[in-house]
Amino acid sequence: MRDEELIEAAKTAAAMAYAPYSKFRVGAVVLAADGSLFTGSNVENAAFPSTLCAEAVAIGSAVSSGVRKIDVIAVACLDGDQNCFPCGQCRQRMREFGTEKVIVTDKAGRTHRHDLSDLLPHSFGPEDLPSP
Ligand code: THU
Repeated sequence: MRDEELIEAAKTAAAMAYAPYSKFRVGAVVLAADGSLFTGSNVENAAFPSTLCAEAVAIGSAVSSGVRKIDVIAVACLDGDQNCFPCGQCRQRMREFGTEKVIVTDKAGRTHRHDLSDLLPHSFGPEDLPSP
């Protein structure tokens, strides 16, 4: 799937967002190593810290379907004219499952591919824990 198609799928997911508080709708698409796709949107909560990011929902969906290796995650937002880079916590969630590339769009709608290692340098991951 092309990067533009993944971003389009992320936008479709964003349209399903539950974001009555921020009014900032975000969508994410996980492309797993086995080629399967999973989507998620942000799910807000009146108790604000209980909000789930779109990436967390998409990763949770993938992992709960058995995925353990993610190749690519695309992120898109529908509101505002800013870029939609993943938050710090979501970068760490991506790191857990070996995500290699993150696709975002710029204000003009062009897609950009980033290495997760650039977005989360000197990261801590599963290999950094002693084996049980
Ligand atoms: N949000 C995401 O879904 N992903 C991110 O990486 C950044 C922020 C959502 C959370 C909240 O619903 C809204 O955007 C504003 O922070």
